[in-house]
Amino acid sequence: RNFKSSMECRWDIDRLNAPFLAIYESLIPPEEEKAKQKQLLTLLEKLVNKEWPEARLYLYGSCANSFGVCKSDIDVCLAIPDANIDKSEVILKLADILESDNLQDVQALTRARVPIVKLMDPATGISCDICINNVLAVVNTKLLRDYARIDVRLQQLAFIVKHWAKSRGVNETYQGTLSSYAYVLMCIHFLQQRRPAILPCLQEMEATYAVTVDNIECAYFDRVEKLCDFGSHNRETIAQLVWAFFHYWAYRHDYTNTVISVRAGSLLSKRTKDWTRRIGNDRHLICIEDPFDVSHDLGRVVDKFSIKVLREEFERAAEIMQYDLNPCVTLFEPYVA
Ligand code: GTP
Ligand code: MG
Repeated sequence: RNFKSSMECRWDIDRLNAPFLAIYESLIPPEEEKAKQKQLLTLLEKLVNKEWPEARLYLYGSCANSFGVCKSDIDVCLAIPDANIDKSEVILKLADILESDNLQDVQALTRARVPIVKLMDPATGISCDICINNVLAVVNTKLLRDYARIDVRLQQLAFIVKHWAKSRGVNETYQGTLSSYAYVLMCIHFLQQRRPAILPCLQEMEATYAVTVDNIECAYFDRVEKLCDFGSHNRETIAQLVWAFFHYWAYRHDYTNTVISVRAGSLLSKRTKDWTRRIGNDRHLICIEDPFDVSHDLGRVVDKFSIKVLREEFERAAEIMQYDLNPCVTLFEPYVA
């Protein structure tokens, strides 16, 4: 009898809704964190405008895309209208300015793929990365934020997936696993694929927002307040979606032949993108198309070792969702090497 009731309990996936929602809620940043971010941004604007009066600062990444959990670092883009600036020079100059204003741990990383200045603000305790003229990141931040406004299940799923990925050590691009940005795109794509769909494909709809950045045309439907009922025909709960997400990436995704595309709202074939073989360091072992820079595969950091790590983690998560008696704990147990 005990066995039977524990089996029934195990298969009632919706018993996990309340604990998953509690985890989601515990990760939402409190209002005062937003206020501190604003305070830091105002300080940075003041310092930057003394040297570059034309420049503007934009928040991007998780502090502005609705997928930031509490205590995240903030990402700032310094936009300088002059097209001929030398980014490394600006980075070094900026680091000087910040250091002389008593910001701490100031580091200029001029050789990174995206050159940045890192700093920590002792007044707010917030760490911050500043990049130069990375406007595409500001635009894809808006796209993610607009998707998040359509159906709250996206934010819930993405928080849980990011929390899982951080706990399990598979959110480290320098170790060949995926960025937070890649995980959010995986969540959006997954919700576009549910039947009935939970999210639309904004880039396939009439464009109400259009900008051209680095010769890339970025256009999509951004009047998302008109879409707040979009997913209402689909009643899947967060527990069902977490189960299905891990099940998809563990057992159903065709890693050999397909690319996930939020832009197209569907899977694409690797062949049509010419992503079937290794070119330079890009191995295309898991393919996630950037929604605007469509030649960019967010999975390019993944190598033959880390693909194994990732797939084993997806399988572990799927097994836990299926069989574990307490998935809301086991799923997030820290990975110990
Ligand atoms: P956490 O800091 O982990 O909470 O998440 P995050 O959303 O800030 O993600 P991440 O640090 O991975 O990236 C910050 C932002 O940089 C993203 O939101 C994107 O706007 C941008 N970004 C990150 N990686 C790429 C990339 O490979 N290509 C492009 N075009 N943009 C990227
Ligand atoms: Mg970030």
